[in-house]
Amino acid sequence: MSGEPLRVGVIGCGPIAERGHIPGIIKSKEARVVAVADLDTKVLEKTSKKFGIAKTFTDYHQMLEEKLDLVHICVPNHLHSKVAIDVMTRGVHVLVEKPLATSVHEAEQMVKTAADQKVKLCEAKQWRYVPAVQRGYDIYKNGKLGRIVSMLAQWHTDIPLTWSHAQWYYNPEKSGGGIVSDIGIHMLDLLLLFGGPVNHVSASGGDYTGTMGFDTSVQALLQFSGGGTGILDVSWLAPYSKILDIVGTGGIATVDMQYYSLLHATKTSSTLCRDCTRPSSMT
Ligand SMILES: NC(=O)c1ccc[n+]([C@@H]2O[C@H](COP(=O)([O-])OP(=O)(O)OC[C@H]3O[C@@H](n4cnc5c(N)ncnc54)[C@H](O)[C@@H]3O)[C@@H](O)[C@H]2O)c1
Repeated sequence: MSGEPLRVGVIGCGPIAERGHIPGIIKSKEARVVAVADLDTKVLEKTSKKFGIAKTFTDYHQMLEEKLDLVHICVPNHLHSKVAIDVMTRGVHVLVEKPLATSVHEAEQMVKTAADQKVKLCEAKQWRYVPAVQRGYDIYKNGKLGRIVSMLAQWHTDIPLTWSHAQWYYNPEKSGGGIVSDIGIHMLDLLLLFGGPVNHVSASGGDYTGTMGFDTSVQALLQFSGGGTGILDVSWLAPYSKILDIVGTGGIATVDMQYYSLLHATKTSSTLCRDCTRPSSMT
């Protein structure tokens, strides 16, 4: 970086851009939003007024003339790959919303383009950067939890209607799937962060409403190559819960993902037997 703030463009100004990306960039001293693009002129006008962004485009290709360093891509899932490849082909770095793409082939094309163009391609997996998760991860990395025995990554929440009224969320050809590609992907990211690569997965799930046409509840058991198991439990039907539990050979940690707090990180009873002490906080 030259020391100047990064010049950022945002493509797609729906709820995730409005509530997450644009306010986040504005808060940062290292970047500024210089232009936004959306097909919908009303959305563009609202975004421009709310955040004071002068340059707006209905065609994102025109926005790419603005000498941007980085583009945040916040369009519906089935467009991620095409838009990201268009941007990277111009030599511009990309932060693309999750899921990276709606097929493995598209994802591979994106990764190849990033390598060919020597630009960075990053998928938005923000939960691993939540301070409470980072603290749990530091404790684990410092060896205080020992080796992973098991993990539970659970997210039970409302169907996305409460988030966006966009219809593509309910069309698996455009969304890329059901609950796993929508929110499961975040919890899976946390399992992989702590547990590392996976050598076996068994899963069960389905559309238990019988009306949606995509998975609404999925439970998966992951076997980590380095040992230990991870349980992914995501549901649009169960009562609200958002928790990450890490059980190690030397301690346990629980992150309350709803209130962003590390609830506890304590030595386990096997350690206690040796030490003859009460559970002690590691935070
Ligand atoms: N990381 C997270 O936690 C998180 C949360 C919610 C949504 N998302 C992801 O963010 C993305 C957007 O979600 P959303 O809820 O804001 O969707 P949305 O459909 O409500 O908004 C998308 C916007 O993109 C615009 N758009 C569509 N095609 C375009 C094009 N070709 N050029 C320019 N603009 C275009 C639409 O007009 C709309 O304003 C999705 O990929 C979704 O999966 C991520």
